[in-house]
Amino acid sequence: MPPSTRPDPAIAIAVLAVCAAALLAYFAFAPPEQAIRAPAGGSSGAGAPAAPAQGPVSPLTRPVGLDPEKVRLGRRLFHDKRLSGDGTVACASCHDLNRGGMDGLPQAVGVRGQKGDVNTPTVLNSGLNFRQFWDGRAADLVEQAAGPVHNPTEMDSNWPQVVARLSGDPAYAAAFARLYGRLEGPAIQDAIAAYEQSLVTADAPFDRHLQGDATALSPAAAEGWRLFRDLGCVACHQGANLGGNMYAGLGVMGDFFRDRGRAPTKADLGRYSVTRREEDRHVFKVPSLRNVARTAPYFHDGSVATLEEAVDLMARYQLGVRLDPRRKGQLIAFLESLTGELPADAVEDPGR
Ligand code: HEC
Ligand code: HEC
Repeated sequence: MPPSTRPDPAIAIAVLAVCAAALLAYFAFAPPEQAIRAPAGGSSGAGAPAAPAQGPVSPLTRPVGLDPEKVRLGRRLFHDKRLSGDGTVACASCHDLNRGGMDGLPQAVGVRGQKGDVNTPTVLNSGLNFRQFWDGRAADLVEQAAGPVHNPTEMDSNWPQVVARLSGDPAYAAAFARLYGRLEGPAIQDAIAAYEQSLVTADAPFDRHLQGDATALSPAAAEGWRLFRDLGCVACHQGANLGGNMYAGLGVMGDFFRDRGRAPTKADLGRYSVTRREEDRHVFKVPSLRNVARTAPYFHDGSVATLEEAVDLMARYQLGVRLDPRRKGQLIAFLESLTGELPADAVEDPGR
């Protein structure tokens, strides 16, 4: 762990960090070694875990080597309301695969109608994220899957209760005995994670473009992709997931939280909640932009209703750029080209 007290920050350093990262990403390709943070938070520019080695942007490819039986078992668990204390909420209730892998709400609603404090991120392509949750508090999908089950405002249950309920179901009992030896919490987490790993939306127009199909992008989308690199969006939204491989502060070039006009909440603390380091205040895992046209509303607080507004705010607060309507439209056309296809059997019960 790096020391928690650091020399005072210089705004210039943060600005330089953004420009340097943009340049690096543009020219190809060491991922930034640290989170890009708001100057206000105070940062010497070092400290967050390094992003995994990945080029700036690459096509999505379907995962190989997943056990199809575990994927099928995980799919059933993901759609099973018996994982919640009162039997009313499944993972799929909030992560609806028919609507981009999320719920379309500003903040999630769990058992007994309880409202959570952050926007539901999509589960699509979540296996590519270097950490899970907005603040990165879970290392991977296996660890993550225990979170919502035990969260009192989401599913409000626990493994002994879930195991007792599922054990009465002969199909589950047989599948767990065969694949894991026994039905227990870690096995449930593993099967759900295997299923989530399979939720890769390959074959988006942008992937076809990266693979050499010169007709895959409309002229507007192609121009948007150029802007995305030239303006420096790609400094943070990078990797096959166009996000999910580093942390960054919200409000590098301006005070998003002051301008939002609503008092900051605990959820706004971001990664600070995990590390308690001042420079991690308002720092979040950079979200994936895959399928982003389908996952409104946006940002960790769900405060942004439209993609247009999200792009506008990003340009202003992360890059200090004002976009005219034409360039905004081109960026949106590019973001729309990131909508891909789920595997045909991804949704257990499409009629639900
Ligand atoms: C009540 C709604 C709700 C339910 C039910 C729910 N989730 Fe979530 N999920 C959320 C919210 C909200 C977050 C973001 C929480 C945070 O970052 O603090 C999240 C985050 C995640 C993430 C991390 C994605 C990322 O990019 O960081 C994954 C993966 C995930 N959920 C999978 C699941 C699984 C598996 C289940 C069932 C065991 C489940 N969720 C149940 C609302 C829900
Ligand atoms: C300095 C890093 C950084 C740069 C540069 C950046 N972003 Fe972001 N982006 C983020 C972070 C961090 C978030 C999450 C903020 C939050 O939820 O509070 C985000 C969120 C988004 C979202 C909302 C995603 C969602 O699911 O909620 C969109 C859309 C987006 N960015 C597009 C862009 C575009 C387009 C550009 C260039 C004009 C850009 N970003 C530049 C870091 C960055």
